[in-house]
Amino acid sequence: TQRTLSLIKPDATRRNLTGKINAKFEDAGLRIVAQKRLHLTKAQAGEFYKVHAERPFYDELTTFMASGPIVAQVLEGEDAIAKNREVMGATNPADAEAGTIRAEFAESVGENSVHGSDAPETAKEEIAYFFAGLELVG
Ligand code: GTP
Ligand code: MG
Repeated sequence: TQRTLSLIKPDATRRNLTGKINAKFEDAGLRIVAQKRLHLTKAQAGEFYKVHAERPFYDELTTFMASGPIVAQVLEGEDAIAKNREVMGATNPADAEAGTIRAEFAESVGENSVHGSDAPETAKEEIAYFFAGLELVG
């Protein structure tokens, strides 16, 4: 079993889609073992996405991530990292497979409703960025 960090992004909380997105995770066999709603500052969003600091969309991305509440969560299950990315669908919703979260809900490549860790090392770092060990209830 594995854990991954998931974020429901501001475009999705704004449209009240938290429950529908969580249902997709649970239907795929992922368990939400920690969850909280928070509103990042632009500096905090910048720290979280610092691997993208040199990308041309960094300013747009971090402004967007600080534009409203997000829901941070830890998903647990067999192959959770890959399974979560499968349920999310491609980064650009235009390329996302039918039935995925991004195909159904995302508005654009920037405002694409969800984030999921991409590897075990980043999952570990990203979970620790948002949650203390005692907050993870398996
Ligand atoms: P995350 O799970 O959010 O990391 O998405 P990803 O792994 O599918 O994509 P990637 O790590 O390559 O990019 C991180 C995030 O940057 C994406 O989810 C988008 O929100 C944003 N992003 C990527 N490409 C673009 C772009 O061309 N324009 C804008 N505005 N944002 C982008
Ligand atoms: Mg990524």
